[in-house]
Amino acid sequence: MVRAVDLSYRFLFRAILSRLPERAAVALGQWGLRTLPLDRLPVFRNTDPRLAMTLGGVRLANPLILSSMYYDTRILARAMRLGFGAVTAKSITRAPRPGHPHPNLVRVETAEGPGLVNCNGFRNPGLGAYRGALAGLARTGPLIVAAAGESVEEYVEVVAGLERFGDLVEINISSPNTRLVYEWSTRPAELARLFRQVRAATAKPLIVKISPDFRQTNEDVIIPAALDAGIGIVNYGNTRRVEEPRLSQRAGGLSGPALFAATLDNVRRLRDRFGPAIEIIACGGIDAPDKARRAMAAGATACAYFTGFITRGPILARLILDSLLGPHQ
Ligand SMILES: Cc1cc2nc3c(=O)[nH]c(=O)nc-3n(C[C@H](O)[C@H](O)[C@H](O)COP(=O)(O)O)c2cc1C
Repeated sequence: MVRAVDLSYRFLFRAILSRLPERAAVALGQWGLRTLPLDRLPVFRNTDPRLAMTLGGVRLANPLILSSMYYDTRILARAMRLGFGAVTAKSITRAPRPGHPHPNLVRVETAEGPGLVNCNGFRNPGLGAYRGALAGLARTGPLIVAAAGESVEEYVEVVAGLERFGDLVEINISSPNTRLVYEWSTRPAELARLFRQVRAATAKPLIVKISPDFRQTNEDVIIPAALDAGIGIVNYGNTRRVEEPRLSQRAGGLSGPALFAATLDNVRRLRDRFGPAIEIIACGGIDAPDKARRAMAAGATACAYFTGFITRGPILARLILDSLLGPHQ
């Protein structure tokens, strides 16, 4: 049954989703996620108790996380029952943001396989409206709420406003599509203040999501500052900034398998350097069971992905979980 669903999605992706114009493919995919009761089908889950683990002291049924992208709570509710140990909501800002104009998402075919480049620009309803939406979300699994901003005060307000709705809180300092967010990594002194102040704003476990574009600063400055402030979970990481003339901003964030080699390398180096002092979420290019296994073997505490959810479909979580249990489950 798992194989039949896998093959069917491969066909759907190849024949339809990868051929429709991007905007239509996104609309169709999100309509499907909102409308089809996929989460009622046990085929998408593996509930083996051996997969259970903790992240920041929070129990997850397994170490797979849906990475930040969706803010629609109907989709988040479904995703919680599609095999993930935790689901991340989109990064929310204090005020609503319309995001960047279309085209803001394009598919790319890289040597490693299909990926995406987006310049979404944090299209989101803003803190006040999103609190209302989250209040109506029936949480059947752990939720990671996520904050972004352009000032320390904005992060503090968003973290304080969202934290009661999530089990963990992620601070995104790394999206390449909004200049002032991306540039946090170039202002380490201010970042240290940001970390201390968001730490004081919530008792929930905090995750800092970093950029693969600032490797040396991440290791020498950003992670030590996060640890000093009491933030012990690192999501490594966000998309990689690339030029892309088809996008309205002429540049965007690359996601998908082209990121994987760097993700693996980053996880390995962080584990060597920081040992058990940090928990690492490997994110970037995980779109197949062997990649998740390799990331875990390199020292990841958990694995997150978004692009694989699109290119391999909701069945990917089940395929990875089966594979993490080994061939003789
Ligand atoms: C369309 C799109 C929107 C995204 N929005 C967010 C976001 O709001 N916040 C965030 O931290 N990451 C965001 N991301 C980045 C993903 O969460 C993830 O870190 C990145 O795509 C790398 O993982 P992947 O290769 O598995 O997709 C977005 C990615 C895409 C493709």
